[in-house]
Amino acid sequence: MIWQPETLDEARRMAWDADDWDEGIAHCLTMLVPDGAWMREGPSLDYGCGPGRLTAAVHHRTWAGMSTVESVGYDPNPKMLHESDNDAVRFVDRLTGLGTFGFVFSVLVLQHLDHESQHAAIDNMAAMCGRGGTVRVQFTYEGDTGPLSNPTPRPTMTRWMRDAGLVSVWTELDPVYPTWAWAEGQMS
Ligand SMILES: C[S@@+](CC[C@H](N)C(=O)[O-])C[C@H]1O[C@@H](n2cnc3c(N)ncnc32)[C@H](O)[C@@H]1O
Repeated sequence: MIWQPETLDEARRMAWDADDWDEGIAHCLTMLVPDGAWMREGPSLDYGCGPGRLTAAVHHRTWAGMSTVESVGYDPNPKMLHESDNDAVRFVDRLTGLGTFGFVFSVLVLQHLDHESQHAAIDNMAAMCGRGGTVRVQFTYEGDTGPLSNPTPRPTMTRWMRDAGLVSVWTELDPVYPTWAWAEGQMS
């Protein structure tokens, strides 16, 4: 099991961006959706969404004003999920019956999982991605290994994504957080 805050308040207090919650969201948005319009193959799936800080943000950046599209935040820990106050975004603790998505993304999840679970998560994300869609994940590629930190070398992440059926896979280093990298691939 990994470290998991039990409530949104606890997440805000303890978490990854305790001092700069809004800045963290803004940074992730620039890394996930640099130009909000280009990922319109379908709605987005936030894999391991936690309290959903990025779920609605990514949805609105991509689909602003288009009320017919519903994006989803998935987290296996139901305590992390909260009622959405927005019709365009839904939170679930299971991946069944959702169909596929045009953009599947994950932030601050893989680094907390052992390598076997990271690989399985990549397989899950690729399976939820529709044809022509994009999978984009943040992971740590170097740094300490420990209960909250399982770095994965970039070539290993690339291989897992290709094995999951994604093409045109590439990785890049995060310009702000020194141990972070991002990997992206398309579903053919
Ligand atoms: C540090 S939080 C990140 C939440 C959110 N992605 C964000 O950036 O604000 C990590 C989340 O990963 C979820 N998680 C743990 N194991 C997971 C798994 N195997 N697959 C998907 N999510 C998982 C936890 O429940 C927790 O909500």
